[in-house]
This record gives sequence, structure tokens and C-alpha cells, in this order.
Amino acid sequence: MTAITTPITPITPTIGIIGSGAIGSAVAKVLARHGIQATLANSRGPDSLKDLVRELGPSIKAGTREEAAAQDIVFVAVNWGKLPTALAGLPDFGGRIVIDTNNPIEAPLFKPAELNGRLSSEVVSDLVPGARVVKAFNHLAAALLATDPADQGGKRVLFYSGDDAAAKATVAALIGRLGFSGIDLGALNVGARLAQFPGGPLPILNLVHYA
Ligand SMILES: NC(=O)c1ccc[n+]([C@@H]2O[C@H](COP(=O)([O-])OP(=O)(O)OC[C@H]3O[C@@H](n4cnc5c(N)ncnc54)[C@H](OP(=O)(O)O)[C@@H]3O)[C@@H](O)[C@H]2O)c1
Repeated sequence: MTAITTPITPITPTIGIIGSGAIGSAVAKVLARHGIQATLANSRGPDSLKDLVRELGPSIKAGTREEAAAQDIVFVAVNWGKLPTALAGLPDFGGRIVIDTNNPIEAPLFKPAELNGRLSSEVVSDLVPGARVVKAFNHLAAALLATDPADQGGKRVLFYSGDDAAAKATVAALIGRLGFSGIDLGALNVGARLAQFPGGPLPILNLVHYA
């Protein structure tokens, strides 16, 4: 008989970010505001990120795609059409967490991608074998995501969804630590559908939670 074990995420998980554009740098900025360490990567290599990481502050360092992908929590924030290349050839994630911030639409045409009836998070999940995928940080425009989530006495809402309860709890804890109010939308086939852009009803909604 084979024992089934749920991967344990360390109490202070390390963080990587693949993609340093609008969303990747917004996530890095939010992490940096709280002094949380992260490794940021793009397609052009760490040298191209020198100015950005200097601007973001000491908790964010530039790394390779492989270094970012090796962390306990890996944000993926890459143009939809470039995701297969950005995630190609990485080792199995072995139960580590991938946060899917992506939406299946791309500048400059903003034509929805053909998903053949699948959810974008299902497509992303196939590209990160062994990962526990949580959909989050995708429903707000990057400029708003990067701002202080304390808003008019409340906390800006971020949605998250996923099929692994422990992974979702880890992401929920991070969302809370960053000052947002997290709302669990359930499993990927429910929550990712609600939060997906285009198609879902939740994208762009700037909700503020008053406790
Ligand atoms: N922009 C928004 O407001 C927004 C809001 C919600 C969700 N999203 C979603 O978030 C994702 C990222 O969007 P974005 O606006 O941040 O795009 P972006 O500004 O164009 O940035 C994309 C990033 O992906 C990196 N990348 C591309 N190919 C790569 C590869 N092979 N290896 C490593 N990195 C690679 C790029 O690297 P280089 O810098 O080296 O080119 C760039 O840093 C998309 O799926 C989008 O739908 C965007």
C-alpha cells in the first residue's frame, strides 16, 4: 500500500516570481513593501532586472527562471502565449505551490485565447507538473494590485481558488500578511471560472472589505 502524503509548505515559504512585467513587478512591489524576500525572473536574465530590483528594495533579488521556479511558492505572471516556453523544461514541482496570476488574453489585440472549453488554470496546471496550483492575484489591473491594499478603512479583496486545501491556506496566509482580504472561491473549476478574464464576473471588481 502506498501512503498518500500532503506536501507541507514551510512556515516561512520562499517565493519566486516568473515574469517581471506589469503583474510580476506589482507582486514584487507588494512583497517588498512588507520586506518579504523573493526571486524575480524574466526571459532576458537577471542582468536585465538590475534597475528594477534596486528600485524594489533589498528583499527582492533578480534570478534565473530556474531559480525562481525552485522556490516554495512560485508566482507565474507571463503573457498567455509565452507560458509554454516560460515553463518548459522545469523540474517537477514536487507539491510546491504555483500561483496562477494569468489570464487567457493578450495585448495588443486582446483577443481571447482558444481554450477548447477548458479553464485557463487547467491549461496552466498542465504546464507545471507536480504543482499545487492556486489561482490568485489575477483579477485586478496591475497598477491597482501594486497599491496599498488598505483602502478607506478597509482592505482590498483578492480572490483565490484551488483544489488543495493546504496550498490554499498557505496562499490565504500570504494574502493576509500582504494586507489584503482574501476570499476563498472554492475549487479551481468553480473559483477560477469566476475570476478568469475574460468570461468570469469578478475581474476588475475593486472590492473593499470592512471588518
Ligand atoms: N497587466 C495586467 O493588468 C494584468 C492583470 C491581471 C492578470 N494579468 C495576466 O498576468 C500575466 C502577465 O501579464 P503582464 O501584463 O504582467 O505581462 P507583461 O507586462 O508583458 O510581462 C510579462 C513577463 O513575462 C516574461 N516572460 C515572457 N516569456 C518568458 C520566458 N520564456 N521566461 C521567463 N519570463 C518570460 C516577460 O519577460 P521579459 O520582461 O524579459 O520580456 C515579462 O517580464 C498575463 O497572463 C496577463 O493576462 C495581467
